Amino acid sequence: MPGSDKLILGQVLQFLADPRGMAAGQASRVIAQGGVLVRDGMIVETGAASDMRRRHPGAMIADHGDSLLMAGFVDAHAHYPQTAIIASWGKRLIDWLNTYTFPQEMRFGDKDYAESIADRYLGLNLANGITTACCYCTIHPESVDAFFAASQARGLRMAGGKVMMDRNAPAGLRDTAKSGYDDSKSLIARWHGRDRLTYAVTPRFAPTSSPEQLAAAGALWREHPDCLMQTHLSEQREEIAWMRELFADAQDYLDVYQDHGLSGAGSVMGHAIHLTDREWQALAAEGTALAHCPTSNTFIGSGLFDLARAQELGITVGLATDVGGGSSFSMLRTMAAAYEIGQLRGNAIHPEMLLWLATQGSADALRMGGKIGNLVAGREADIVVLDLSSTPVIAQRRAEAESFWDAVFPTIMLGDDRAISQVYVAGRPMRQPAGVS
Ligand code: GUN
Ligand code: ZN
Repeated sequence: MPGSDKLILGQVLQFLADPRGMAAGQASRVIAQGGVLVRDGMIVETGAASDMRRRHPGAMIADHGDSLLMAGFVDAHAHYPQTAIIASWGKRLIDWLNTYTFPQEMRFGDKDYAESIADRYLGLNLANGITTACCYCTIHPESVDAFFAASQARGLRMAGGKVMMDRNAPAGLRDTAKSGYDDSKSLIARWHGRDRLTYAVTPRFAPTSSPEQLAAAGALWREHPDCLMQTHLSEQREEIAWMRELFADAQDYLDVYQDHGLSGAGSVMGHAIHLTDREWQALAAEGTALAHCPTSNTFIGSGLFDLARAQELGITVGLATDVGGGSSFSMLRTMAAAYEIGQLRGNAIHPEMLLWLATQGSADALRMGGKIGNLVAGREADIVVLDLSSTPVIAQRRAEAESFWDAVFPTIMLGDDRAISQVYVAGRPMRQPAGVS
């Protein structure tokens, strides 16, 4: 009913197509003085502000001036239980897991602790304009309950799952092939498809699961094919060497997952840095999606993801913080890191592509592309409002900008949570509008 309509005004960025293979800037449209009409949490219409104001006189107005309205950011891979250990110094992957991560994850059998960190994590996400994330929890069912309950309470579209890990982890942080399967199955029954929540079957990575556990994860995913499946693939060279010792018969890392029914559409693999030609081809042929985690890859010293190659092969790529191996909760900082890694590979990624990866690209990787990721009619109204002049440095640079993309790029490279002036989750503002107390 028109009385519940909300008209959100600002510069509106919409994608018209996937930018890969298109001339820069041609895959999107910017409505300089635009509007998004929201009803019952959904986007009903977008267009010119003046026209929409005239045609919807009863709508409540939220005017964001010349701030940029775009789809809320989608983080394709994160570990909410690592919130408290983000930015821990001096280790590479395996030592980092043993020194910082596993002791922290051990604490999530405590329901109160899990709830407090889930709460903190979602608060930080919203402060950074992230409205959807696909999260690893810990081996404890309590960690999954805390995550989904907190997400549900905020009305968020979120994905996540219980980590399955039955070897090469400390006592107290291991399940078994059977308990991992049984607990995950109960959690699917409890949470998957409830409100906006999606379950992701989550074997941590090949080295911490026995072949029996990987087989159980594959069976579980086959029984629940509309769940996602997430894991890590070829992040560091030492990890790959370890995987080879553990799975001597596998031809490569991806083969381990293929062998256990863990690849293909709906599977999201994090990192994928050191791949063989066969692995690249197989990922493309099977429709497995990749989560690019650039701040993590530089922070832990993993390597440079080859985005151009993934895109040439038609692989769906999402962008991800990988908190807390990743060093930031900010998707702006994450886009900046993706740009820097692109530069080191001779690929200057256009801001249009960076924004695509952070929204529609990640949504596609999570098979949510029809629901979120773009401001078009029929999508859920998860919207981030970006102040494109949020700090003195950004403001003076933006003042010299000669085009829309030139005006946005300084916020991508230099921006942080100060650039996030509002976030709407299913049309509901998550922050108090300015001037209202
Ligand atoms: N590989 C297995 N577990 C993890 C994790 O928690 N973080 C990262 N970055 N890589 C992993
Ligand atoms: Zn990860």
